[in-house]
Amino acid sequence: MRGHLLLSFSALLGLAWRSRGSDVDRRAAPADTLLVLTVATKETDGFLRFMQSANYFNYTVKVLGMGEEWKGGDVGRSIGGGQKVRLLKEAMEGLADQEGMVILFLDSYDLVFAGSPDEILRKFQQANHKVLFAAEGLIWPDKRLAEKYPSVRSGKRFLNSGGFIGYAPYINKIVKQWDLHDNDDDQLFYTKVYLDTLQRESLNMTLDHKCQIFQNLNGAIDEVLLKFGTNRVRVRNTMYDTLPVVIHGNINTKIYLNHLANYIPNAWNYEHGCGNCDQNMVDLSQVNVSQEFPVVTVGIFIEQPTPFVPEFFQRLFELDYPKDKLNVFVHNNVINHERHIQMFWDENKSVFKSFKVVGPEENLSQGEARNMGMDLCRKDSSCDYYFSIDSDVQLTNRQTLKLLIEQNRKIIGPLVTRHGKLWSNFWGALSLDGYYARSEDYIDIVQGKRIGVWNVPFMAHIYLIKGEVLRTEMKERNFFVLEKLDPDMALCRNARELGLFMYVTNRHEFGRLTSTANYNTSHYNNDLWQIFENPVDWKEKYIHPNYTRIFKENYLEQPCPDVFWFPVFSEKACDELVEEMENFGIWSGGKHEDKRITGGYESVPTDDIHMRQINYEKEWLHFIREFISPVTLKVFSGYYTKGYAVMNFVVKYTPHRQSYLRPHHDSSTFTINIALNNKGLDFQGGGCRFHRYNCTIESPRKGWSFMHPGRLTHLHEGLPTTGGIRYIAVSFIDP
Ligand SMILES: *[C@@H]1O[C@H](CO)[C@@H](O)[C@H](O)[C@H]1NC(C)=O
Ligand SMILES: *[C@@H]1O[C@H](CO)[C@@H](O)[C@H](O)[C@H]1NC(C)=O
Ligand SMILES: *[C@@H]1O[C@H](CO)[C@@H](O)[C@H](O)[C@H]1NC(C)=O
Ligand SMILES: *[C@@H]1O[C@H](CO)[C@@H](O)[C@H](O)[C@H]1NC(C)=O
Ligand SMILES: *[C@@H]1O[C@H](CO)[C@@H](O)[C@H](O)[C@H]1NC(C)=O
Ligand SMILES: *[C@@H]1O[C@H](CO)[C@@H](O)[C@H](O)[C@H]1NC(C)=O
Ligand SMILES: *[C@@H]1O[C@H](CO)[C@@H](O)[C@H](O)[C@H]1NC(C)=O
Ligand SMILES: *[C@@H]1O[C@H](CO)[C@@H](O)[C@H](O)[C@H]1NC(C)=O
Repeated sequence: MRGHLLLSFSALLGLAWRSRGSDVDRRAAPADTLLVLTVATKETDGFLRFMQSANYFNYTVKVLGMGEEWKGGDVGRSIGGGQKVRLLKEAMEGLADQEGMVILFLDSYDLVFAGSPDEILRKFQQANHKVLFAAEGLIWPDKRLAEKYPSVRSGKRFLNSGGFIGYAPYINKIVKQWDLHDNDDDQLFYTKVYLDTLQRESLNMTLDHKCQIFQNLNGAIDEVLLKFGTNRVRVRNTMYDTLPVVIHGNINTKIYLNHLANYIPNAWNYEHGCGNCDQNMVDLSQVNVSQEFPVVTVGIFIEQPTPFVPEFFQRLFELDYPKDKLNVFVHNNVINHERHIQMFWDENKSVFKSFKVVGPEENLSQGEARNMGMDLCRKDSSCDYYFSIDSDVQLTNRQTLKLLIEQNRKIIGPLVTRHGKLWSNFWGALSLDGYYARSEDYIDIVQGKRIGVWNVPFMAHIYLIKGEVLRTEMKERNFFVLEKLDPDMALCRNARELGLFMYVTNRHEFGRLTSTANYNTSHYNNDLWQIFENPVDWKEKYIHPNYTRIFKENYLEQPCPDVFWFPVFSEKACDELVEEMENFGIWSGGKHEDKRITGGYESVPTDDIHMRQINYEKEWLHFIREFISPVTLKVFSGYYTKGYAVMNFVVKYTPHRQSYLRPHHDSSTFTINIALNNKGLDFQGGGCRFHRYNCTIESPRKGWSFMHPGRLTHLHEGLPTTGGIRYIAVSFIDP
C-alpha cells in the first residue's frame, strides 16, 4: 500500500516522442511538430497536475532534470532558476538542426494547459515570429531595464520566462549563450537577449503581448474569468478577449491558479461534473483480508469543551475499518471530558492496534499535541496514513476513512459543515493577510451544487495525510508552529509553502461540524442544553428513534379517551434528565408550602424539582414547541398550542417519601407526562388512573409521554409506587 500509484507519468522521463494524437482543428493543421520541454526535479503535486493536463490534450512532453538536486534557488521569492536554462541548453544540443520542430518550454510546478497542441501551433504561426515569449505587465527582476523595452500600444510589455515557444534552431541559439550558474536568474538572462536589438531582430523574437498563448496570472487576476464549455473549461482574458492556452500561477498567484485548475481543462464543468475525480484512485474493495488494509494512526483532538463527545467516540468506533489497523492517539485538553474517554477506553481500548491518551495534566499546547500525534505516524515506518480528527466532527458516514484513502491524495479532508450553515472546514480563498476569503464557488461547494475534489488553501478539523509524505516532503519541520498562527493555519501555510496541495472532497456526505460556542459545562450532562446550538445532534441523541413515525404511520396510542400516548424521549434523554435532577438533589419533599410558585401554596404537591431550578426552563419550553406541539396539532386538530408552560418539573415517587398522588385536575389546557424509567426494572407499581372513564394505565413505558386535557374531563391520580423509584417529567401546558 505504501508505494503510491501516481507514477504513471514517470514512464515519460527520457522518452522524447509520442504521436500527436489530437486532430482537433484540422483547418490550421500545422506541418510543424511540437515538443514540450519542462524542468522538474521533483514530482510535486503541481507537476503531477501539469502532466495530467498535458496528457489530457496529448502533448508530447519531455521532462528535464527529474531526480536532480535543485540548485536554482528559491524561485518565486528571489531570483534564480538558472538551472532550468542549463538543462534546456543541454537538451537543445541534440535538437539544434530540427528546423520543423517547435519547442514549447514551460515551468511545470505552477502551470496548466487549457488548450490543445494544435491550437498553440496555430497561434504561434499566426504570431509570425521565430520565438515568442510570455509577457506580463510587471517587470522582474530588474526594474531599471523598463525603459529599454520596446513600447507597445496595447498589451503587456515585459518578458516572462515561465513560458516561451520557438523553432528549435532559434531556441538553441538563445540558450547556447548561457554560461552562468544554476542559481543565476533565468528571466534576466532571457530579458537581456530580448532587449538586445540586434539579437531580437536576428532571432526574430517577440512577446505574446495579448495573452494569445501564455497567461501569467501575476498582476492579471482581475483580467481573467473561467469560461465554461460543454466539454472543457477555459480561462478567458477579458482585457484582450483571448483564450490563453497556458495558464501560469507565477509569484503570489498560486492559490488562484489552484482555484482555476479546479475547473480547467476538464476538472469540473456544469454538464459532466468532476472530470478527473476517478483518476489514480486506490480500490480498497480489492483488498482481500483485513490484514492487508493500510495502517492508520488516528489523532483525536479535544482541545476545548465539545458537545456530544460520547457520540463522537461511538461514531469513530463504528467506522467501517479493521480496528486492528488503527493506532489511536487522543489528546484531551478538557477535564470534563475525561470520563467520556474513560468510558470508551475501558470498554474498547483493546480492540485497536494501540490506544494512547494524553490528558489535560500534561498541559500541552494545541500545537505540541498535534505535532505529537503527527509524529507518531511520521516516526513509525509501518504507518501508512495519519488521520487527524477534532472532537467537533461528527462523522456520520462510516465509510469516510476508506473513501479518503481511495481518493489517493497526499493530503485530503472530507467536507464537513455546520448543519444548515455555510460554516465549513475549508476556505476557498485567502485574503491578502492569509485569513479567510470567500471564493466564488465556496457556497456551491458547501451546498453540494458542485461536487468534486477541490484544491483549497486551507482546511482543518479533519484530514488524512500519507505517512510517506510525512516522512519525506513533510519531515523537516513542526508543521503546527509558524509565527503566531494558530496550529491549523500554520499547518496549511507550511503545506502551501512546500507546494503540497490540500484537497477537500464533497463527493459524499461525510458528517457535520458541531458548534462549540455557548457550551456551558457547569451542568452534569451538558449536552441536554444543546437544543439551540446543535439541534440536529440534540435531536439524534435525545428524541426517541420512533418519534417521527407518529406522523408518518400514526404511531401513537389512545389507552383512555383523549389520553394520547407516544414515544418522545430516547433512553439517554430519560437517564440524563434523571441524573441531572439527582445531581442537583434538592427535591421539594411534596409539601403544600412552595416558595417556587406564585402564591406559595400547592394544593396537590409532588416531590419534585422544577426545570427552572436547574436552569433548564428555556430549553424545555423549546423542546415543547419543537416536539410536543406537532403532536398536539395532530391529536387535538385545530388546537394551536402556544407551547407556554409555567409548571415544568420532574417528579420522584418512592415508597419511602411520596409514593402516589391523590385525584386532581391540572392547571393546564393539556398536560404531558413523560415516563423517565422502566416499570419492573427500576420500580414497581405506579401508573395513572383517569376517574371519569374508569381507565387505568398500569405499565408506563420509558421515554413515552401521555398527553391529556388538564381540567374538567380528566380528573386523574398517580397510583402508588410500591418499590424502587419512579421518575416522570411533567408540564402543564397553556395554563
Ligand atoms: C488524446 O488521445 C486520445 C487517444 O488517441 C484520444 O482519445 C483523445 O481524444 C485525445 N485527447 C484530446 C483532447 O484530443
Ligand atoms: C520573422 O519571421 C517571419 C517568418 O517566420 C517573417 O515573416 C518575419 O518577417 C520575420 N520578422 C522579422 C522582423 O524578421
Ligand atoms: C483472497 O481470499 C481468498 C479467500 O478468502 C483466498 O483464498 C486468497 O488467497 C486471497 N487472496 C489474496 C491475494 O490474499
Ligand atoms: C465499545 O464497543 C462496543 C462494541 O463492542 C460499542 O457498542 C460501545 O459503544 C463502545 N463503547 C463506547 C463507550 O463507545
Ligand atoms: C501550562 O502551560 C502554560 C503555557 O505553557 C503555562 O503558562 C502554565 O503555567 C502551565 N500550567 C501548569 C499547571 O503547568
Ligand atoms: C451555566 O450554567 C450554570 C448552571 O446552571 C448557570 O449558573 C450559568 O449561569 C450558566 N452560564 C451561562 C453563561 O449561561
Ligand atoms: C421502534 O419501533 C420498532 C417497531 O415497532 C421496535 O421494534 C423498536 O424497538 C422501537 N424502538 C425503540 C427504541 O423503542
Ligand atoms: C372500573 O373498571 C373495573 C375493571 O376494569 C371494574 O371492575 C369496575 O367495576 C369499574 N368501576 C366502575 C365504577 O365502573
